[in-house]
Amino acid sequence: VSNREKFRPAYHHTPIYGWMNDPNGMFYKDGVWHLCYQWNPYGSKWQNLSWGHSTSPDLIHWTRMDDAVIEPDGLGLIFSGSSAIDKENSAGFGKDAIVAMYTSAAASQIQSLAWSDDDGMTFNKYPGNPVLTLNSEARDPNMFWNPDTKEWTLVLAHALDHEMLIFTSPDMKEWTLQSRFGRGLGAQDGVWECPDLFELPVEGTDEKKWVLLCNLNPGGPFGGSATQYFIGDFDGKTFVSDTDASGNVPTKWLDFGKDHYATVSFSDAPDGRRTVIGWMSNWQYAPEVPTMQFRSANTLPREIGLFRGADGEIYASSTPSPELEALRDRLTLDVKSKKIGKKPVSFRLPSENDGVCEILADVNPGNAAKVNLELSNSKGEKVDMIYDVNARTLSFDRRESGIVDFSQDFPSVTVSPTFGDGKKISLRIFIDRSSIEVFGNNGRFVMTNLVFPNEPYSALSVKSENGTAKLSDLRIYSIK
Ligand code: FRU
Repeated sequence: VSNREKFRPAYHHTPIYGWMNDPNGMFYKDGVWHLCYQWNPYGSKWQNLSWGHSTSPDLIHWTRMDDAVIEPDGLGLIFSGSSAIDKENSAGFGKDAIVAMYTSAAASQIQSLAWSDDDGMTFNKYPGNPVLTLNSEARDPNMFWNPDTKEWTLVLAHALDHEMLIFTSPDMKEWTLQSRFGRGLGAQDGVWECPDLFELPVEGTDEKKWVLLCNLNPGGPFGGSATQYFIGDFDGKTFVSDTDASGNVPTKWLDFGKDHYATVSFSDAPDGRRTVIGWMSNWQYAPEVPTMQFRSANTLPREIGLFRGADGEIYASSTPSPELEALRDRLTLDVKSKKIGKKPVSFRLPSENDGVCEILADVNPGNAAKVNLELSNSKGEKVDMIYDVNARTLSFDRRESGIVDFSQDFPSVTVSPTFGDGKKISLRIFIDRSSIEVFGNNGRFVMTNLVFPNEPYSALSVKSENGTAKLSDLRIYSIK
């Protein structure tokens, strides 16, 4: 990492050079996490789409796999998709072959297979491609083996129709359309893309529910691209969304920042984990961000869970993957308790490694109406995070965060519900060289936003409005 690359993240996955968008075809096998991604090896804009490939033993350290790149061919560019391990050799590529399904995109969008019989070191394209052709824009195939029905399930984004198509197959080659989900439901703007479908237990109960991730662009809560999801039931053929108390299908968001898109999960993650990674950018300005030698990073890996909110609805939580604790280097600050009033109290952020750090804090508003946590540097650049107690929201204001003028859509304020009771909120904030991820209340909410400060933020200042608040268990770790 040279000085010219001051916005290259220290601990987020990036392509070594060139353009990257969606994470693709992620899977886990024999102790290795495989992350493929929409990659242009020849430039820093969206062109020449291939699947790049990186692997990691721990979701933190990534190694580029030069020989495992899936490159464009006569059928088109290689758009997004998924991978699965064929434990039964149902496709005939060999037992435990890794089978990737992606969209071949040219004048039309058709679905193709590639497989690996060497644990993802190299991929071969299936000579019978395409395996699925529709007469309309359909992309980003997400497939998984359904142990209950003993067949493959495929969810395909019917992009312009704002719906997900569900197919089944015995062998990943012959697909039968079973159902459609989504017309008229949830956020309907833009196009629907990059689905994922999986089952998870609801925290504290014996109940299990299915989650349908449905990325869309534009139409996110703060403009541009974002990830919505539906909670419901799936019988192997049809997904039915839950309704709220008034009988409507609610719109739910997985992340309340501007820079979280195309999020999908790893197949075959161990221990029942549902680990996801998103693309940490937004189609509104991704090609304009002021990074050099590469464009776009991925979000930190997160574990998806389900919880029941105070309104009776089931929501998805996102907690930082446990592996991330190993990033912590030096505990640079440890404050048990600090009273907060209207005069700001300042804490120093670590300076090593360009100030990349993790901040943990419990914010107890006491009788205050608002608590403001501000990150700032000596150039007067700042990010304001405001806990609005009555509204039960946390906002994130990056309008003066540093370089913001490369797009009119970049300077912005994002707002997340805290899914709390209007009292204490706990925060875990990951600062890297060009991003901030705020996880709140044990993953009940998360906000991911890019920032491009001209120099690293060096201080955290906290103040309250209309009352006295308290900060407790404030800990700051520098990051290796
Ligand atoms: C989402 C997306 C996908 C498509 C890919 C192309 O960001 O538009 O629908 O497969 O990017 O790069």
